[in-house]
Amino acid sequence: MKYQGVIFDLDGVICHTDKFHYQAWKALADRMGIYFDGEINNRLRGVSRMESLEIILERYGGTLTEDEKIKIADEKNERYKSLLAQMDESDVSETVSSTLNKLREAGLKLAIGSSSKNTRLILNRIGLGGFFDAISDGNNIAFSKPHPQVFTLAAEYLNLAPAECLVVEDARAGIEAAVAGGFDSAAVGDAANDERATYRLKSFSELIDVISTNLLF
Ligand code: BG6
Ligand code: MG
Repeated sequence: MKYQGVIFDLDGVICHTDKFHYQAWKALADRMGIYFDGEINNRLRGVSRMESLEIILERYGGTLTEDEKIKIADEKNERYKSLLAQMDESDVSETVSSTLNKLREAGLKLAIGSSSKNTRLILNRIGLGGFFDAISDGNNIAFSKPHPQVFTLAAEYLNLAPAECLVVEDARAGIEAAVAGGFDSAAVGDAANDERATYRLKSFSELIDVISTNLLF
C-alpha cells in the first residue's frame, strides 16, 4: 500500500465541535461588541486558540494586554468545555465509525493530528479515547496549522515517513500544513474545494476507495 498510515484532524473530521467553538466565541464577541459570524468562524478552523482570538480581535476597536487576552481565551475555553459535556458516542457518525474500523482492518496505522488542546477530552467523550495508535495535538506543538509540525510529529509517533501517510482535513490551514510537510491530503467539508488537496472527498467513506486504489505492487 502506498499509504501505511492515516492522520486525521479531529474537529470537523471525526466529530463536529465547530458549532461549540462558534457558540463559545460568539458569546464573548457579543459581550465585547465585536462582529462575529460563520464566515469568520471558518477562518478559525485548524488555528490555535490564541491565534483564533487574534482573528476575532481584528474587528475590535480597543487594545488589550497579553494578560487580558489570556483571560478571554481561558473564559472561552471554559464555556467551550461546558458545551463539550453534551457530547457522547452518538457524535461519531455511522460513516466515520465504520470507515475507521475498515481502515484499521486493512492494517493501516491511525493517528490524530489536531491543533486542539482538548483533543483527549473530546476523544474520551466520543468513546474513541483508546482507539488511535498515536495522538499529536495542541499540547505537543510550538506552531499550529498551517505549520506542518502537528502532522510531522504524528507521523513520527507512527514511525512512518510523511510520504507514507495520508492526512484527512476539513480546514484550509490543515491542507496547507499537509502540503508543507510533504503529506498527501484528503479534504472534506469546508476544505473540499481546496485545489491544493490531493483528493477532494464528497463523503468520508470515500477514504476506503482512496486507500484501496493506491495499492503498490
Ligand atoms: C482546532 C479547531 O481543532 O482546534 C480550531 O479547528 C480551534 O477551531 C483549535 O481553535 C484549538 O482548540 P482548543 O480546543 O485548544 O481551544
Ligand atoms: Mg478541523
